[in-house]
Amino acid sequence: MRKYLTLAFVVILAGFSVVGATDDPHGATNSITCEQCHIPHGTLGDILVNAADSLVSTLCLSCHTPGGWVNMAEELSSSQKAIPGVSGSSHSWDVAAVNSTYGASLPQQAALFDHLSADSSITCATCHDPHRNANSPFLRLDNSADALCLDCHRDRDVNSVRTYTGNVLSHPVGIALPTTSTFHNPPLDVDGNPQPSDGNTTNDYQLGAGDIVRCTTCHGIHYTDSNSGTVDGP
Ligand code: HEC
Ligand code: HEC
Ligand code: HEC
Ligand code: HEC
Ligand code: HEC
Repeated sequence: MRKYLTLAFVVILAGFSVVGATDDPHGATNSITCEQCHIPHGTLGDILVNAADSLVSTLCLSCHTPGGWVNMAEELSSSQKAIPGVSGSSHSWDVAAVNSTYGASLPQQAALFDHLSADSSITCATCHDPHRNANSPFLRLDNSADALCLDCHRDRDVNSVRTYTGNVLSHPVGIALPTTSTFHNPPLDVDGNPQPSDGNTTNDYQLGAGDIVRCTTCHGIHYTDSNSGTVDGP
């Protein structure tokens, strides 16, 4: 976490603004500079974020809304935070990072841990690095093998979930979907035929390389309405 970073940050911000730049689409393409997101003086909190309440999510959502910096279709709002089985369509943010019900522990990788809020909540910027788009879309870790999900949800890792030792039991991940007749590979679409037969790509199970089942085979992160009969999206 980052309670004492403000002074170092001002120095870095001053230096960076000469040599640094953020990756597109958070950069020149959309005329976004450091100052859209940071205020060097007089801001609340420890990360000099350009939001009245100093919350990272307030900053993100100020642009990621229709009528924002560019007129985006992709609105995200607090009402979309998921309560499983009840409501919502997006992975939560501004919630405590530790949640035993949902198998979430404090992240271990510095790339995530260092970007919890001062009160140890997860924010948009715990999962996303708004400066660097090396792991699109602005992810802090390459999630092609669930590294991002499992850093927090490591109770659900294949090595801990199938051993019946008292750990949380969970559907396996990291295992290939068999091609035997017991399993549908490729999985079936809502029309009863192998995907992508129904023409709706947003309800397709996304297997990893080698047909590996992953968290994101079954789970979307944002705009996920949990109804495979409809198209997901903003
Ligand atoms: C799209 C918004 C956005 C833009 C543009 C942006 N930043 Fe940031 N920056 C953030 C957020 C949000 C954080 C806080 C991350 C966190 O929660 O730890 C941050 C954190 C930082 C930090 C602290 C270290 C870190 O990576 O968390 C530095 C230094 C920094 N920004 C410098 C810059 C500079 C210099 C620029 C311009 C080249 C810039 N930022 C542009 C949003 C932005
Ligand atoms: C100054 C306005 C602004 C702010 C603040 C901002 N964004 Fe963005 N963001 C954009 C624009 C513009 C795009 C491109 C949207 C498009 O092309 O439809 C974008 C795109 C993205 C994308 C998609 C990238 C891709 O490759 O598809 C992600 C992820 C994202 N932003 C996350 C964040 C997060 C997280 C924050 C807060 C830390 C944030 N943004 C703050 C303007 C902003
Ligand atoms: C728990 C981690 C996590 C949190 C918290 C999170 N995101 Fe994301 N976000 C992701 C992942 C993973 C993807 C990529 C989804 C995919 O590829 O289908 C993503 C994708 C996106 C995209 C690209 C459009 C899309 O739906 O794929 C945008 C924009 C975005 N996030 C913005 C935000 C903003 C703004 C916040 C905070 C309000 C936020 N995210 C919070 C993990 C997170
Ligand atoms: C930074 C830590 C962190 C990361 C990374 C993370 N999660 Fe979570 N996740 C949590 C926490 C904490 C909760 C409990 C949220 C709450 O209080 O509602 C949660 C809740 C959930 C839920 C229940 C719905 C909700 O939002 O409450 C699902 C499903 C989920 N995570 C899946 C994923 C997947 C899939 C990934 C990888 C893309 C992922 N998570 C990445 C911490 C994380
Ligand atoms: C085979 C599909 C599948 C895979 C793979 C999968 N999930 Fe789930 N997950 C589900 C379903 C279905 C539910 C809803 C269960 C319910 O309603 O009781 C769920 C619920 C959840 C919940 C919320 C309720 C709870 O029990 O905690 C979390 C958190 C979660 N999954 C995280 C993950 C993570 C992290 C991974 C990867 C390690 C993962 N899931 C892999 C299908 C899957």
